[in-house]
Formats: sequence, structure tokens, C-alpha cells
Amino acid sequence: MSGQSLNAAVADAAARLGRAGIEDCRAEARLLVCEAVGIDRSVLLGHGERPLDRAAAERLHTMLEARCRRLPMAQVIGRRGFWEHDFAVTADTLTPRPETELLVEAALARADGARALRLLDLGTGTGCLLLSLLDAWPHAWGLGIDRSAAALAVAAENMDRLGLRARCALVQANWCDPLGGDFDVVVSNPPYIPAAEIDGLAPEVSEHEPRLALDGGVDGLDPYRLLFPRLATLLAPGGIALFEHGAGQGAALAELSRALGIVVLARLHDLAGHDRCIVLGAPHGDSL
Ligand SMILES: C[S@@+](CC[C@H](N)C(=O)[O-])C[C@H]1O[C@@H](n2cnc3c(N)ncnc32)[C@H](O)[C@@H]1O
Repeated sequence: MSGQSLNAAVADAAARLGRAGIEDCRAEARLLVCEAVGIDRSVLLGHGERPLDRAAAERLHTMLEARCRRLPMAQVIGRRGFWEHDFAVTADTLTPRPETELLVEAALARADGARALRLLDLGTGTGCLLLSLLDAWPHAWGLGIDRSAAALAVAAENMDRLGLRARCALVQANWCDPLGGDFDVVVSNPPYIPAAEIDGLAPEVSEHEPRLALDGGVDGLDPYRLLFPRLATLLAPGGIALFEHGAGQGAALAELSRALGIVVLARLHDLAGHDRCIVLGAPHGDSL
């Protein structure tokens, strides 16, 4: 590949990705060539006749080989954009998804960022939710919990890169087992895929994303059954909890909330029109 033009490298890479069953192979090929060379897309489009040097060709080869094994693109290039920042991603973390930005948007719209909010993120993974909110709320302090030490190491890297160490703690725990209350905002994107459905998902997910981040038990709702009853002790008066959930799970979660005396403040849909987020108030409390 070394010596060929960037355009020719894109064409070859797209053909290889296509043979590996990757749908958007042309766009992905452009991204990998840009990544290998260290240029952005506009440079590639304007200077596609430039030659690919040997070091870039080797980087491209390594990344193509990984992507053809169906590693998620975010794991291949080591990061994914979420809300306003790039987040480091590894095989130990779920790739941040665009639909999860709905939780950030909803939390920013509902909580008063001028206050010194106390924020809790249950199942923080890369820290994308926790760190995006802390970055937007300069007076807030936040705690991110994850069972996976390896995921927490990635969250710590992201925390440091965003300069948030002074206002953030990351703790390895089984959900909120060690915690008491007084959080103003709880966010969580727990694993919610029904266990039997995981193997039928795209190989990028089923073979390369951590099971711990995916498997929500038989119907996908196990984490919510564990976490919702804990909101009574976790939330400060007037506090809110925002949970992401799978498409079609919102009605069952609203039912579960009501059975526990938890106020359902809102149910939100993502850009694809799927119910995706439930906003809860403190049990038997008033809404914000
Ligand atoms: C769906 S991922 C969400 C990651 C990140 N918050 C996001 O939105 O991209 C769920 C996260 O919950 C963590 N997790 C799963 N079971 C857990 C448990 N029992 N206690 C704490 N964290 C858990 C996983 O390790 C994973 O990082």
C-alpha cells in the first residue's frame, strides 16, 4: 500500500471492508485513511493524490485488519465523540451511543446547573455521561460507579483529559451497594439487552463489547429492578433520576416506578422515535 495515493488507499480499503461485510465501507475507509495519515477529511478530499508513506500504510493495515475482524470502529481508532468531547474507548467499555446524549440533554434541561449539584452515574463505562454533565456544570461534583475496574481506568483517563479530577470520583462497586443518599441528579445507562438477544446482534456488539455492559437479564430489566428501589435513599429532596432503557421498555419501567411510589416526571423518545429515557423524581416527593 505504501507509495500509492490516498485515493487509491481509500478504494482498496473500502473493497476490503466491503468483503468483510461492512455496509458503509467507503465512509469507513476514508475515516481509517485519515486516521492513519493524521489528517482530517477536508485534507483527504482536497489532496487525495498525495502518496501514503510507509508508516501510515502500516497503521492503516493494522486498523483495517482489526475492523475486518469486526471490532467496533471506536475500538479500532480508540475513541468516540459524545456530546461535546471525544472519549477514549477500549474493549472494556461500551462505545458511547448517540441516543445516550438524550440523557445529557434532559439532565441539562431539568437541573439547575448554577447550583453545586451532586451527581451520581451508575455504570459509568467511559464516563461519557458523568463527564459531559460535570463539564457543563462547573459547580457540580460527581461520582461514577462501575463494576469493571478496567472500564473505570478508561473513565479515569477521560476524566483527566477533560481536567475534571478535582470534581469527580470513580469507585468500583456493585451498583450502589456502598452508597447513601443526597444526590441531586442520578443518571444511568444500565445494561438492558435481554440476555437471549445478545448473540443475534451485530458482531461488533455481540463479540466485542463487554457482556457486563449489555446483559440486562431475561427481559433486560434486571438492573432497573435493583436500582429503582434504591432511589428512595439515593436522591436528595427534589432530586431527579434519568435512566436510559431499550426501545419498548418504557411502559414496564413506568409501571415498576409507580408500584414503588416513584414519580414519573417524563418519558422521552430518541431521534429515531423510540422510547429511550425515563425521568423519575424522589419516591413520594414533589417534582422539580
Ligand atoms: C450500557 S453500559 C453504559 C456505559 C456508559 N454509561 C454509557 O452510557 O456509554 C453499562 C455499564 O454498567 C456497568 N455495570 C454492569 N453491571 C454493573 C454492576 N452490577 N455494578 C456497577 N456497574 C455495572 C458496565 O460495566 C458498563 O460500564
